[in-house]
Amino acid sequence: MQLHPQKSSRMSVRRTATNRLRIVKIQEVKKESPTVKTFTFQDKLCARAEPGQFVMVWIPGVDEIPMSLSTISPKGLTSITAAEVGEATKALHQKSQGEALGIRGPYGNGFTLTSGNVMIVGGGTGLVPLMPLTDKIVRPATKITFLLGAKTKDELLFLDRIEHMLSTVNAEIIATTEDGSYGLKGVVTDQAKQKLAKERFDMIYACGPEQMMHKMFLLAERYDTPLQASLERIMRCAVGLCGSCVIGRLRVCRDGPVLTSEQLRMVKDEFGRFKRDFQGRKTSIC
Ligand SMILES: Cc1cc2nc3c(=O)[nH]c(=O)nc-3n(C[C@H](O)[C@H](O)[C@H](O)COP(=O)(O)OP(=O)(O)OC[C@H]3O[C@@H](n4cnc5c(N)ncnc54)[C@H](O)[C@@H]3O)c2cc1C
Ligand code: FES
Repeated sequence: MQLHPQKSSRMSVRRTATNRLRIVKIQEVKKESPTVKTFTFQDKLCARAEPGQFVMVWIPGVDEIPMSLSTISPKGLTSITAAEVGEATKALHQKSQGEALGIRGPYGNGFTLTSGNVMIVGGGTGLVPLMPLTDKIVRPATKITFLLGAKTKDELLFLDRIEHMLSTVNAEIIATTEDGSYGLKGVVTDQAKQKLAKERFDMIYACGPEQMMHKMFLLAERYDTPLQASLERIMRCAVGLCGSCVIGRLRVCRDGPVLTSEQLRMVKDEFGRFKRDFQGRKTSIC
């Protein structure tokens, strides 16, 4: 397809702006759990992001890492929500209000909104990209079943926010913890299985540990329900050039991070089984 020259130059200007590193000032830091914090800042380009897209966050002097957007707002108020797992996220957690971060993006394909009866399944920090999705899907969806899980009550993220977003629509929220300290004891996939056995859903959205998403993929295939799942892989360039995020023939930064059932079928030999390490070697996910 040939693009009109003016339209194509507008798109390339937008791409260049997206790829440029912007320095943003942290406006607020919120502790979500003992290991997870949300950082809020203002950014015009993120105002146009789709739910499920991510930014590359540069922590000066340490590293640049991918983070999903946990808030997208038309006026540009944006947030990321990070678990402290290693060097870069530890340095990020030490940042306070008024300090600077670098960001580029938003990158990748977000979730596609659907109408009808939808199921949203999230575990741990996998709930992050599901927040802006939930915020938007309340309009087209006729019913929302939200299943969220964590190991313990302390680690259960965004419960108040989910309850607030779903307070005026036809929705059911089911929380699970592995130790039973809140909600139902067990894992979210058990609840998803019970729901799918009884009810027909038009779409399942999932994000969480890859084993969880793989179980959701198998359930979605069994109950012939389309799935969109947001994957994580090592990312460096975020624009499809370095190859560090490959899964089968797909690059998670460009073709994802949200992959559909059709795409997950294409990469089923690796999905839920292998990921690449920093040297590009295939390593087992189990
Ligand atoms: C598209 C995408 C969205 C993400 N969104 C979130 C989010 O919203 N919240 C959140 O807490 N985490 C998110 N992550 C994971 C986050 O990027 C890693 O936890 C972070 O990079 C760890 O960096 P570190 O230096 O603290 O830890 P390290 O000790 O360097 O690494 C710990 C683990 O984090 C992963 N990791 C490290 N560097 C990268 C990298 N450059 N790209 C991808 N994974 C890496 C690896 O699995 C590694 O084993 C996302 C990852 C991707 C790919
Ligand atoms: S991160 Fe470089 S190709 Fe995806």
